[in-house]
Amino acid sequence: MEGLLKKKISAHELPLVVEPANQKISLIESFQLLSHHRENLKKNLLISGGLLFRNFPVSNEKDFSNFIKTLGLGNFIDYIGDSPRTKIAEGIYTSTETPSSVKIPLHNELSFIDLYPKHIYFYCHTVPQKGGETILADGRKILHALNDKIKFRFKDKGLKYTSRYHERNIFLKMINKLHPSHRTWVDVFETKDKDEVEHKCRLSNFHFKWNKNNWIQISQQRPATIRHPQTNEEVWFNQAHLFDFNPKLMGLWRFVSSQLLYYPKHTKLHDVSFGDLTSIPREDLYQIMDTLDEHTIKFPWQKGDVLVLDNVLAMHGRATFSGKRRVMAAMTS
Ligand SMILES: [Fe+2]
Repeated sequence: MEGLLKKKISAHELPLVVEPANQKISLIESFQLLSHHRENLKKNLLISGGLLFRNFPVSNEKDFSNFIKTLGLGNFIDYIGDSPRTKIAEGIYTSTETPSSVKIPLHNELSFIDLYPKHIYFYCHTVPQKGGETILADGRKILHALNDKIKFRFKDKGLKYTSRYHERNIFLKMINKLHPSHRTWVDVFETKDKDEVEHKCRLSNFHFKWNKNNWIQISQQRPATIRHPQTNEEVWFNQAHLFDFNPKLMGLWRFVSSQLLYYPKHTKLHDVSFGDLTSIPREDLYQIMDTLDEHTIKFPWQKGDVLVLDNVLAMHGRATFSGKRRVMAAMTS
């Protein structure tokens, strides 16, 4: 691609690094170059699963938004999920605000809903002092690496995810102040109007019901693997391992304290079972988490980096970190 250089960042294909040949390129020239090579970039994204645009002069959310629009992969969509985030501009959010000491395990964004985003984008505005990488894995390789019995069970039965969101809960508000972790349904749906919430649930094919004290319960039946709509490759595509709150996911201290302080009296926030409502063996979830760990790809952020992931082919997560970290995220349909 004339004017663009392609490199591998490690032994892995993911992500493929794309840099301008002219390191003093302006933002306008960058967009012209991206437009010119758009089709070729899309082809490379389908092969590698992710592109890391490095050394382009991207310096704020507006540049990031225009960068995404120039790539032309889809339209911005809102984030309907539980990870604490703040909306910065139309379609642009902070990446998760979960505390720096908590690792976010690998996952495909919103794989538990029918209208999951096709692409997810990250922009690094402030590089943390230590750690804080956006960790990655190739969903094709994860499927290949997983234990056959687990794959068969998950594929055969599918999954049922349930999430419950509060409106005002003093206990959760207190926890969120100390440790941002759970959003209200007002934050999730970006409205206080219950009719609009129900409308958005119907649009997204959610089964929903209002529970006492203004909680909403949302459920979806989803497959454990899917095929990529363009390449037809099969990938592991679920987040059962994030919906079961267990000691391996939460760490022993957080798990024990949540079991003692929160769960005896309060509503469970998430549940996952197989699609036929039978329980998922925790051993299966632990093995999945081990396979994800074994196939994790990690590279340090550089200021101005823009990472574009095919959300079906590539999984992402976040390593723990110290210092200030500002990474923005966006999704397109
Ligand atoms: Fe995510």
